Amino acid sequence: MHIVFASHQDPGAWLPALREALPGHTITVWNPQAPPTGAEGAVVWQPPAELFEHERNLKILFNLGAGVDAILRMPQLPSGIRIARLEDAGMAVQIAEYAVYALLRIARGFGVYERDQAAGRWQPQPGLLRRLWPVGVLGLGSVGERVARVLAALDFPVAGWSRSRRAIEGVQCMAGADELPAFLARTRVLVNVLPLTDATRGILNRRTLSQLLPDACLINVGRGAHLVEQDLLDLLDEGRLAGAALDVFEHEPLPPGHRFWSDPRVHITPHIAGTTLRDEAVESVARQVGQYARGEPVSGIVERARGY
Ligand code: GLV
Repeated sequence: MHIVFASHQDPGAWLPALREALPGHTITVWNPQAPPTGAEGAVVWQPPAELFEHERNLKILFNLGAGVDAILRMPQLPSGIRIARLEDAGMAVQIAEYAVYALLRIARGFGVYERDQAAGRWQPQPGLLRRLWPVGVLGLGSVGERVARVLAALDFPVAGWSRSRRAIEGVQCMAGADELPAFLARTRVLVNVLPLTDATRGILNRRTLSQLLPDACLINVGRGAHLVEQDLLDLLDEGRLAGAALDVFEHEPLPPGHRFWSDPRVHITPHIAGTTLRDEAVESVARQVGQYARGEPVSGIVERARGY
């Protein structure tokens, strides 16, 4: 089949790898100036709206990212088009790594040691008592499951919460709106890896975050719009929350002058927790294209009504 590549990423870095992984398919860079190609598939990341007006034969999009919230919000997205999202593709392990880093930075006081070094101070912190650091993973898809398993393997008490019930060995799995209060009430470090949907937008707010254990911390690697940023700042100021590690923001790049830049209780990174790795992503797309071309069910397909 014919597949167009429509992404602001440099096609030079992607086309040879996609062509090599998909012999027998035609892969070209989408060119809005040229006549439509009639392509049936498109490999996309944040595609421009004109793609859908120009290439009217598109049946399926292969998204070069795990999150599809931005695409699903596009009013120009044709209703019948299918979307396959990146399946793991090295994303889960990176995000698990980030969660470990952020949790240990807080729980073992590595952030304190950074400040101590700058001040020339030698001051060991008390040892880590894991039972005082119950972790709650919000979202138990493939990424959340990996995060929960990795943290449980480090002997932290781990619970996970998801829309529908999951079973993960060594992790207390809770589900549905009814169990959210109990999940929050036993959690000191909340790791958010939910997909952004109408049901999860703003889920990290004063009401939910103030149900966490005292001295709680938030690690947000989902989407900026999950968090009501002002509520977090207020809860930090009130001493209700102790800190936050944030990789995603309502506006990215984080605007200059935003309080997160200078607040010592907030540790920020520029949306790098899970980056798209080219070789792994190409492998995932090639698998999905193969399934689609053979008329098989495509893995990682998005349920549009559900939002992920
Ligand atoms: C990154 O945020 C992604 O959705 O892949």
